[in-house]
Amino acid sequence: MITVAFAATAVATLNLPQETSRYIDGKNSHLVQAYCLSCHSADYVTTQPRGQPRAFWEAVVQKMKKAYGAEIPDKEIRTIVDSLTETYGRKN
Ligand code: HEC
Repeated sequence: MITVAFAATAVATLNLPQETSRYIDGKNSHLVQAYCLSCHSADYVTTQPRGQPRAFWEAVVQKMKKAYGAEIPDKEIRTIVDSLTETYGRKN
């Protein structure tokens, strides 16, 4: 007769709050990670209504730079706006 003993396995569950301080991975999202996390969490972007056109994201990025002093190099703005539009906005 063979007796097999199974040890009762205690599974510890760690409940972490949902990750909210990250941007969705997408094309060139590393630039968004780099330039859009220094002042506020990703919530500001991820809670915006979806499907906005490129002009919406262009205005957001320009506002961050001009009104709030975000240090975003001009040469990166286009790529960042494209990335935001592609990930959170309307595909165009
Ligand atoms: C220099 C600091 C700074 C940086 C860097 C920054 N933001 Fe902001 N952002 C702000 C401030 C200040 C507000 C307004 C906060 C408030 O109203 O409570 C804001 C608000 C927002 C909002 C909410 C809507 C609005 O217009 O107020 C969005 C969306 C946003 N930021 C997106 C971005 C994106 C995208 C980037 C990167 C391109 C970025 N932010 C980088 C300072 C910054």
